Amino acid sequence: MPATAADDLAHQSPEAIAAMFGRVAPRYDFLNHALCGGTDVYWRWQLARAVAAQRPARLLDLATGSGDVLRALARRQAASETMIGADFCLPMLRVAREKAVSHLVAADALRLPFADASFDAITIAFGLRNFADRSAGLREMRRVLRAGGRAHILEFSHPVAGLAPLYFAYLRWVMPRYAQFFTPERGAYEYLGDSIRAFPRQPQLAEMMRGAGFAAARWTNLTFGIVALHVAEV
Ligand SMILES: C[S@@+](CC[C@H](N)C(=O)[O-])C[C@H]1O[C@@H](n2cnc3c(N)ncnc32)[C@H](O)[C@@H]1O
Repeated sequence: MPATAADDLAHQSPEAIAAMFGRVAPRYDFLNHALCGGTDVYWRWQLARAVAAQRPARLLDLATGSGDVLRALARRQAASETMIGADFCLPMLRVAREKAVSHLVAADALRLPFADASFDAITIAFGLRNFADRSAGLREMRRVLRAGGRAHILEFSHPVAGLAPLYFAYLRWVMPRYAQFFTPERGAYEYLGDSIRAFPRQPQLAEMMRGAGFAAARWTNLTFGIVALHVAEV
């Protein structure tokens, strides 16, 4: 028996995860900014900056959600031809469309409707953590990237040692209570904290990327490692 709402969600099917994001979709952007004091804008800006340095022709943003990564990429004109956003949660895609984000596809990141070697770059922000099978997700990314293409993974990670106890206490005790002022979905925010704690550390994720067939994986810590940006080439 799951002990908490978060345990419940953590063991749910992809459909249940999509449904959870569907329920938080109307307040997702607001809570994103509120819970981290707007730092998420900076994290996506760093992602867009890294991609712009590569300036890929065809880019796929996975788990695109409400479309903020695509907007950050568009501001920097990071891709020269096409940018597509894919997500399996229709209410999140609806929020993206209301923000005038175009080229959106409803798709499961574990079974992408794209041919091998279709893209020069993949971005994914705060999505991989939620995949039912992360290794399969990484292999699917590799499949749709051309040789020499790059995956950019922005994800919550494990902060530097001194900060970790305070940060994980905030995730466990403060954030879900704060979130419940704005949404009845307290369980979704307990799940967020639990999923961050359980997510692989920076070197482990780099190793998983290598295991999925990426040639080299390196990472940059942002905000003392609360978030890390992993970049790897096929
Ligand atoms: C925390 S949100 C991140 C949204 C956005 N990338 C951002 O930066 O705010 C996670 C998103 O991942 C999506 N997601 C989770 N698993 C997925 C999968 N297997 N296929 C497609 N989308 C998925 C959810 O529907 C949700 O929109």
